[in-house]
Amino acid sequence: MSALVSPSDYRDLPRLGVGASTEAGTRPSLDPVAFAAEHPGLIDFVEYGSDVDRGLDASIRGWVAQGGATTYHFLDVNLEEESDIDDHWLSGTRRAAEELGAPWICGDSGLWHFGPRDQGHGLLLPPILTRDSAEITARGVRHIRQQVGKWVLPENPPSLYFLGDLHILDYFRLVSELSEGPILLDLAHLAIFQRAIGASPTSALERVPFDSVVEIHVAGGGEVTTEDGFSYLEDDHRSVVHDDVWALAEAIIPRCPNLKAIVFECEHNPPDRVVSGFERLHRLFGAASC
Ligand SMILES: [Fe+2]
Repeated sequence: MSALVSPSDYRDLPRLGVGASTEAGTRPSLDPVAFAAEHPGLIDFVEYGSDVDRGLDASIRGWVAQGGATTYHFLDVNLEEESDIDDHWLSGTRRAAEELGAPWICGDSGLWHFGPRDQGHGLLLPPILTRDSAEITARGVRHIRQQVGKWVLPENPPSLYFLGDLHILDYFRLVSELSEGPILLDLAHLAIFQRAIGASPTSALERVPFDSVVEIHVAGGGEVTTEDGFSYLEDDHRSVVHDDVWALAEAIIPRCPNLKAIVFECEHNPPDRVVSGFERLHRLFGAASC
């Protein structure tokens, strides 16, 4: 595969607004065309999650056909494993992003699969939080950016357990610095991390690389306590967003000068249960822009 021209400054990327997530062929999944018709002005774009094998589904093709804006969320590449970024994945991802007209691509950083890639693995092991790992991930991000010709936003993934000596925000700050590129900050995943290390949700704000945050994810979740008393935050994309995540959203969104998009990851919920979440995000993003 021949190298493509690198994209221009990420600060010049278009502002997409507040969007909804959908995922290839998953049912139930929010139908963006029907949702937008029922609730005009509530979603500005759709973030479509897929892998090279599944490609685009009918629902997202319908959205694109009527002129809807999109981003592409990969679910199948190991940014922390250089050999996984092969020509098959690069060409398939570039094709999907171009068909969608996505201004950038994004996806959780870590290991989506262990061993050979196969459809629907979805393992998603978090990266090892060390400088060595951040250097490998940053090289992967740069390579994809050059080959796909679009900005690549690595996302902090969800996990209750991490190895390594870095805070997850320090890890992604490093990836951003080393790749000279932007990141995607998932606030539900950050809330889970903060809870897992026994810290308050907003105690690590000084570690956020605010200038590098181009996209933010907000998702529903809640408290779970196991039979033996272990308590944690579940990232199940339910309709209700946890107070820890709202606290992060209110503290971080106004401080990101290059923020272009906020996705409410709510694809599995009945539309009427997520309207208030979208409305709150529009108010937050609108106020931040003022
Ligand atoms: Fe996310």
